[in-house]
Amino acid sequence: MNSNLHIGVFDSGVGGLSVLKALREELPDESFIYLADSANAPYGRRTPDQILALSMKNTEFLLEKNVKVVVVACNTATGIAINYLRKAFPLPFIGMEPAVKPAAAGSLTKRIGVLATSRTFEADHFNQTVSQYTDGIEVIVKVGEGLVELVEQGLADSPKTERLLAHYLNPLIEAGIDQLVLGCTHYPFLIPLIQKIIPENITIHDPAPAVARQTRRILEQNDGFVIGPKNLEDNFYSTGDRTILDSMINTIYG
Ligand code: DGL
Repeated sequence: MNSNLHIGVFDSGVGGLSVLKALREELPDESFIYLADSANAPYGRRTPDQILALSMKNTEFLLEKNVKVVVVACNTATGIAINYLRKAFPLPFIGMEPAVKPAAAGSLTKRIGVLATSRTFEADHFNQTVSQYTDGIEVIVKVGEGLVELVEQGLADSPKTERLLAHYLNPLIEAGIDQLVLGCTHYPFLIPLIQKIIPENITIHDPAPAVARQTRRILEQNDGFVIGPKNLEDNFYSTGDRTILDSMINTIYG
């Protein structure tokens, strides 16, 4: 592996910035190329074939920019496409892992809630994780229809978003969950609103730090760490309007 290259990161839109933030904290000397496929978001409304084709296209774009690994910072694309990507391209891929395992391990009520897109819930990836780690635990899934669109429109802290979140979260609260898994990389941007709605005893799980640690392990195994301090600029691309992308980058990274 040529260690002196960028790490490529893509998502259907701006959600993967929540993963990029964790990557930059875990790997401060590394440089990143981020692709937001905002023109085609939300992926949750697309067919598996479309999600696969878009994921291939995103990977080709990043490869043209010369990246050493690709982080698929999208649960939906990971669930549908990562096995195909690993077969089709000669570089390591790191995908999103729904944080079902730590949530199940930490649950006292033996009930956990997962909020994600319908495509994520349909994918084998999610269902295998659930069957592997949730023995004796009730997993209550909720499709967060419309939430990705609101984050993409820059409305992550609007009253409309709060109402929609309450509509999805109240049944989970009533069911007695004590762990909430965020199964979509757009949702960490909703944490301030989620915290307003859920009681304090419910723990929120964002898998981004674990994905960043896994990226570190993959670089380690492939002699892929950049030599010396950070020496490349981070670059951000969008297939659509980049107003929200730019404003979120400014908010998150200054
Ligand atoms: N950030 C993507 C995910 O993690 C959102 C999917 C979508 O665009 O619907 O699933």
